[in-house]
Amino acid sequence: MVIHLDGILSSLIIFTFIHIFQVINGEENRISSLEKRIQELEARQQQYPEVTFLTYKDRKRILVTGGAGFVGSHLIDRLMLEGHEVIVADNFFTGRKRNIEHWIGHENFELINHDIVNPLYIEVDQIYHLASPASPLHYMYNPVKTIKVNTMGTINMLGLARRVRARLLFASTSEVYGDPEAHPQKETYFGNVNPFGPRSCYDESKRVAEATCYAYAKQEGINIRIARIFNTYGPRMHMNDGRVVSNFILQALQNEPITVYGHGKQTRSFQYVSDLVDGLISLMNSNYSMPMNLGNPDEYTIEQFAFKIKDLVGSKAPIVYKDPVVDDPKQRRPDITLAKSWLNWEPKVLINDGLNKTIAYFRNELLVKHHSERNVFFPNEWLHTSDVPRTSTAKNIEL
Ligand SMILES: NC(=O)c1ccc[n+]([C@@H]2O[C@H](COP(=O)([O-])OP(=O)(O)OC[C@H]3O[C@@H](n4cnc5c(N)ncnc54)[C@H](O)[C@@H]3O)[C@@H](O)[C@H]2O)c1
Repeated sequence: MVIHLDGILSSLIIFTFIHIFQVINGEENRISSLEKRIQELEARQQQYPEVTFLTYKDRKRILVTGGAGFVGSHLIDRLMLEGHEVIVADNFFTGRKRNIEHWIGHENFELINHDIVNPLYIEVDQIYHLASPASPLHYMYNPVKTIKVNTMGTINMLGLARRVRARLLFASTSEVYGDPEAHPQKETYFGNVNPFGPRSCYDESKRVAEATCYAYAKQEGINIRIARIFNTYGPRMHMNDGRVVSNFILQALQNEPITVYGHGKQTRSFQYVSDLVDGLISLMNSNYSMPMNLGNPDEYTIEQFAFKIKDLVGSKAPIVYKDPVVDDPKQRRPDITLAKSWLNWEPKVLINDGLNKTIAYFRNELLVKHHSERNVFFPNEWLHTSDVPRTSTAKNIEL
């Protein structure tokens, strides 16, 4: 009997030891898996490019409407790197969070999902008012909304500028010249716009927006700047916006026929996006308040441009000619005398350099197969540092 009790006691002790061992082991496993998760979370923590430190006196609070779009996102990169506080208001109609996600969470950055057709009440020093669909495909999709963005949206932004005494730069367009009879186009040319054609929702509403800016300047003393932007291209452009640069590059990369509408003798001039951003910031901070052209005066026929892109891509795609587009301007070239003399600004990026960067971006964009993959175009300055975080599993672009 005694021997039997001893047996039970020793089995109990062994069982207890085993249990304690299992509990300790389990806890250790739990702790090490928690440690692993913390390490993973720390590794995933957003890293930001080094931004300049500006004192309270020099730092501005800047609103960029349409900041998640192509031009806006590049402008934001520059303003953030300069050390300003940047607020983006965008309804993501054509913009993408991906264009600005590298700033989300930064203490100087804020993103507001907002349709500017509705008023916005915030405190800012400057407003870059860029919100508006820009490509014919996008602005013709909902012409009434396009008119609302440029008329009601602009009135709302001017109202905000009046309330907080901010300076406002309006992103106008070379389309205010319509199908121009004057060549190259000077700011003094009044334009040749069809008021009821398919492009009129954009062209005319941009013209009304310019007029509204001047009405507010005259009546309410608002400090305004008007940039008449000519065709701009670069990374983060929309893949399928139907514009000539994106169309030609995509078709060439996929060896699909490169489509030229009409005979191809119509001309365009193309500026790289970093040149435009330089111009926008200089104009905003200048003393010039009349409309100013920002564009690259190097002019190409559409046909020449198709061959150029085909060569740069090394594509075997044929060039095909289709019916001309309604109201397509026959010639486009900015006269940039004003920008040269007032801002000491002129485009610096050579067409082949700009196109090669854009082609590299589009090539990577075509490689993206999953939602989690990223074809990230980092701000240029950031790329020159050694510790660039690469979030993409797709190939990143080479600059
Ligand atoms: N890219 C060019 O070649 C070019 C040429 C001339 C003028 N512009 C002007 O520059 C500005 C920016 O053009 P982009 O090429 O970056 O176009 P984009 O389409 O890439 O960007 C426009 C942005 O505005 C946003 N937006 C549209 N409607 C809005 C609304 N109601 N409320 C808030 N946000 C709204 C879009 O979501 C998008 O992020 C536009 O005003 C355009 O008219 C551009």
